[in-house]
Amino acid sequence: MMFTQPFLALLLLATNANASPLIHRATSRSISIPVARRVNATGARDILKFDQARAKAFKNRTPQVHHTSPSAAQAAFGVPVTNQAVDYAMTVGVGSPPNPFTLLVDTGSSNTWVGAQQTNPFVVTSTSQDTGNLVEVTYGSGFVFGEQFIDQLTIGDVVIENQSLGAALLSEGFDGVDGIIGIGPTDLTSGKLPFDHIVAEPDALCIPTVTDNAFTQGLIDEDLVGIAFAPTNSLSDTNGEIIFGGVDDSKFTGDIHFVPITSTSPANEFVGIDQSIAYGAASTPILSTTAGITDTGTTLTLIATDALAAYQTATGAVQDSDTGLLRLTPDQFNNLESLFFTIGSETFEFTPNAQIWPRALNTAIGGTSDFVYLIVNDIGSASGEGLDFIDGMTFLERFFAVFDSTNSQFGIATTQFTNATSN
Ligand SMILES: *[C@@H]1O[C@H](CO)[C@@H](O)[C@H](O)[C@H]1NC(C)=O
Ligand SMILES: *[C@@H]1O[C@H](CO)[C@@H](O)[C@H](O)[C@H]1NC(C)=O
Ligand SMILES: *[C@@H]1O[C@H](CO)[C@@H](O)[C@H](O)[C@H]1NC(C)=O
Repeated sequence: MMFTQPFLALLLLATNANASPLIHRATSRSISIPVARRVNATGARDILKFDQARAKAFKNRTPQVHHTSPSAAQAAFGVPVTNQAVDYAMTVGVGSPPNPFTLLVDTGSSNTWVGAQQTNPFVVTSTSQDTGNLVEVTYGSGFVFGEQFIDQLTIGDVVIENQSLGAALLSEGFDGVDGIIGIGPTDLTSGKLPFDHIVAEPDALCIPTVTDNAFTQGLIDEDLVGIAFAPTNSLSDTNGEIIFGGVDDSKFTGDIHFVPITSTSPANEFVGIDQSIAYGAASTPILSTTAGITDTGTTLTLIATDALAAYQTATGAVQDSDTGLLRLTPDQFNNLESLFFTIGSETFEFTPNAQIWPRALNTAIGGTSDFVYLIVNDIGSASGEGLDFIDGMTFLERFFAVFDSTNSQFGIATTQFTNATSN
């Protein structure tokens, strides 16, 4: 739903008192960096399995515990599994001269890791300071164990100094990438130094993210990240962009609509929002207003089990055992209607084409051209648990998103791809 200009002007006037702070444009100080989407042509049959494991890890994350014993800290802070079926990666240089690493872009975690591949290990350079700390992060089925360094990070042509990062000594579950750049909430880093006994202040356990440091060092104007992805029907396509510190006017249409990060746990520990979902012209309820998250590390758009049942009833979709996804016949697809995601006071249309896996890539997920596969699936638990949906990359590729750490808010806008029929 789009407001008319006069109405929008009125609305802006009316809400001026708590208007969103000015968001700087990409022309002011910000860092734009391309992001590639890569579909694993041999492993993509497991998209749902990876996404559900990640969702489970998000939900099981124990609430923040400070001043905990080393072993308890280690157990308490698992963060999600990575998806080896589809990934979104950017290149970051570490050290001086910078050594390039391909890192998963992850708003669902906040630590930065490199050196997961034995062929491209972390190398100590003149800017590397070994802190002597050991770091362990578990990612559901994967983990990284390594040494904490403070080093220089080069993103695009901008150099961020004194970034804490993990240099992997041992890791599992990171095929084809060198690590992760965690750009989620800073609080997610707490407790990731289980062997550090000298930390006195609870907050000292939090490690500034790349975005935090770029902001503190005056390299960007706002402690926020703009996220622009686009749908693609290629296995590999560098069609995304992450903007540290600003937004890119050319990547969205209309206004960015901001909502506060949800107060509901555990979604509030991530880039969590409140949202409801309805289906079609009849506004059939799928999910009533509830908390969930947006996440660049999840491929599908996952909703609570009961919501998925309502979606299946509305669409006639059935489970497909070859892909693990829901599927429609081409005839059913012709009758598929839009989903409507209401976030704050705004409703965003998610078209039939947005709801399907790119048909050109059906065989990559073990499907056939006889069916149309849906990217909406089951989060693996019933609604009412404080994390009832994940708006994953298949959702984010239709909208421009902003994760604004400073003001604890999430922004969303339509783009030229919102209604695209690329799939
Ligand atoms: C692709 O998936 C296969 C099967 O799951 C896995 O063995 C392989 O490591 C994956 N490759 C990448 C680059 O993730
Ligand atoms: C990085 O750390 C060094 C040593 O602590 C300090 O001298 C320098 O000012 C820091 N640089 C920035 C940009 O904060
Ligand atoms: C998408 O299509 C709908 C229905 O035709 C229209 O109302 C809406 O303005 C379009 N949105 C964008 C961003 O183009």
